[in-house]
Amino acid sequence: MKRARIVGTGMAVPEKVLTNADLEKIVDTTDEWIVSRTGIRERRIASEHEALSDFALPAAQRALEMAGIPGDEVDLVICATVSPDTPFPATSTQIQAAIGAAGAAAFDISAACTGFIYGLGIANQYLRAGGAKTALVVGGEILSKFTDWTDRNTCVLFGDGAGAVVLRADGESESGILGVSLHSDGHLGHLLQRPAGGSRRPPSLRDLEADQSFIKMRGNETFKVAVRSLAEVSDEVLKAAGLAHEEVDWFIPHQANLRIIEAVGRRLEIREGHTYVNIERYGNTSAASVPIALDELNRAGRIEEGDIVLCAAFGSGLVWGAGLFRW
Ligand code: UT7
Repeated sequence: MKRARIVGTGMAVPEKVLTNADLEKIVDTTDEWIVSRTGIRERRIASEHEALSDFALPAAQRALEMAGIPGDEVDLVICATVSPDTPFPATSTQIQAAIGAAGAAAFDISAACTGFIYGLGIANQYLRAGGAKTALVVGGEILSKFTDWTDRNTCVLFGDGAGAVVLRADGESESGILGVSLHSDGHLGHLLQRPAGGSRRPPSLRDLEADQSFIKMRGNETFKVAVRSLAEVSDEVLKAAGLAHEEVDWFIPHQANLRIIEAVGRRLEIREGHTYVNIERYGNTSAASVPIALDELNRAGRIEEGDIVLCAAFGSGLVWGAGLFRW
């Protein structure tokens, strides 16, 4: 059977940098608290006029450019996001039109911070089964627009941006996706959510005034489930591929909290220096965090041919997943 291979990566983030010192002026917090509890030092924030596609599109174009593939060869466009330009039409269709992927299948998926891994899993199935030849998977988020800037529990955590990969079906290559494992537990949906703005509670002034249209998180409870789930799903995808933990050359975890990343790395016994961390510069960019990290590593030339790369993410739903590939 054909294997889905990543042939290009790209990313784009807003120019505006919001530092912890800036946040000290907005809410009752300190740089010391944010750095010691999360590892975040600064994050990128979209301007008033910028939306998801302003970053998703350049990220996609950079991935296509690296792959040397024209947009019209893409026959599947997936955009993973919970902060699309508009509730509908899907942002993936804006990307599809802008890159000239005429007639391609295009849809958005909602799996919060795990969205990119879900997108990877879907694209993998399409490419292996012959339903598509060239897939573009974008993970992007502009959560700053749905953040309550008076809530110190959440406003210090998130950042905006997008990352993208181009995947090709390849019958010859040893490299490519070795496995993707995806899971969910909807019983825990209340831990991390935007209560209003959907059909249960359509946009209303009352909800806006009660701050119900913004992100709400029970951080501490989410933290505990995150560590356990990320370790379990990473273990699962490695076992399914018949690989040992010490064979992982790069572990790219979702960048939600440095303490989560370190705890998972310890549980998985990832070799020292083989976990990629950039949370200090971007904060938690949700669906964008794994593809942004992957693109940074790739462009820095730090992933070598044949390297085993493990990605894992966790988020609202709750949903979690891991993807494993040979570079
Ligand atoms: O990406 C999707 C998945 N998301 C996650 O996995 C996030 C998981 N959770 C976390 O990363 C952490 O739970 C947080 C960073 C959100 C919070 O860290 P924590 O160590 O769990 O803190 P906490 O929520 O237990 O709060 C401890 C204290 C509280 O004060 P009291 O009640 O002990 O007096 C908070 O009010 O820290 C206080 N606090 C803050 N203090 C200064 C909460 N946020 C802040 C803040 N600055 N920004």
